[in-house]
Amino acid sequence: MNKKIIVTGGAGYIGSHTVVELVAAGYEPVIIDDFRNSRSWIIDRIAELTGKSPLGYAVDCADEKEVLSVFRNHNDIAGVIHFAAYKAVGESVQKPTMYYQNNIGSLCTVLNAMKETGISNLVFSSSCTVYGQPDKPEVTENTLIQKANSPYGDTKIICERIVESVLASGQNIKGALLRYFNPIGAHPTSKLGELPNGIPNNLVPYITQTAAGLREQLVVNGNDYNTPDGTNIRDYIHVVDLAKAHVKAIEWLERQTKNCCEAFNLGTGKGSSVLEIIHNFEKVNGVKLNYKIGPRRAGDVEQIFANPSKAEKELGWKCQYSVADALKHSWDWEKTL
Ligand code: UFG
Repeated sequence: MNKKIIVTGGAGYIGSHTVVELVAAGYEPVIIDDFRNSRSWIIDRIAELTGKSPLGYAVDCADEKEVLSVFRNHNDIAGVIHFAAYKAVGESVQKPTMYYQNNIGSLCTVLNAMKETGISNLVFSSSCTVYGQPDKPEVTENTLIQKANSPYGDTKIICERIVESVLASGQNIKGALLRYFNPIGAHPTSKLGELPNGIPNNLVPYITQTAAGLREQLVVNGNDYNTPDGTNIRDYIHVVDLAKAHVKAIEWLERQTKNCCEAFNLGTGKGSSVLEIIHNFEKVNGVKLNYKIGPRRAGDVEQIFANPSKAEKELGWKCQYSVADALKHSWDWEKTL
């Protein structure tokens, strides 16, 4: 059986946790990552955790020639998990062409290399951002795809459509589009976790850096929303649960007998408000956070959480960690940095 899986962006936050879970499930990950938004020592951490040094190529995922040569170096690849992409919403507003070029270009490069080498299984990193501000906060995969709030979000919508178009063109493709909700937490061993570049944009790394004294104060982006405590609601999912869903998605693709392209929501099914996350973090870690209420942040949707039934039923996957576990693991990780 072919057990090699190409993982682009395999040294990144979700990628590195996924590589660990792939090894645990008996796969052999082949990482493509040029470390522009990750660190090379993460590879050593993966080796420490799994007892195996993963194969790695320091290659830009948009480089057609180099990517194809990695694919051609291995004749026993069972599938590709494509993480490599830019992911900062605010930055994408400032540098739209950089986002479109990189995120769309690298997916096209991967799809072309798959065609050249006859690989059909593809797991693509998508996002709940494709739903925009939904009419109802709980979304299924059939919820309308809305106009994106940012170039970053637009790249996710376009990339999903590219995989569908490639399928329609007759290329042998089995695609799983994984729509992530808000990944948080770190590996329970504190060997892997999130490494934000500069000032974090996302809530949990901002919380941990504030608790660690690296940031003075956390600002809650508005408390006048139409939610029980006035703050935004999101579905926060432990990164290890998210990583395990990728292994389940690869196994699901291997079971498919026909070409296909299916989207799956990956969330817990439960929303938490910003204030709930702050208070949960304080309680589970026994630390006090310096925070204040500020104005709304442009582009924030009011509330959204996943209906994860399709992933649970079809992939045979379910979240095992609680939000409290994730907040503890995030703090344990921060303390190692
Ligand atoms: N928040 C604060 N203060 C902060 C940071 C965040 O109050 O310092 C709030 C935000 O306003 C939001 C919530 O915390 O209400 C979560 O914000 P994040 O930035 O952590 O996450 P988002 O939901 O905005 O973004 C995430 C992903 C994106 C994805 C988007 C889709 O990071 O990749 O979901 O909605 F596009």
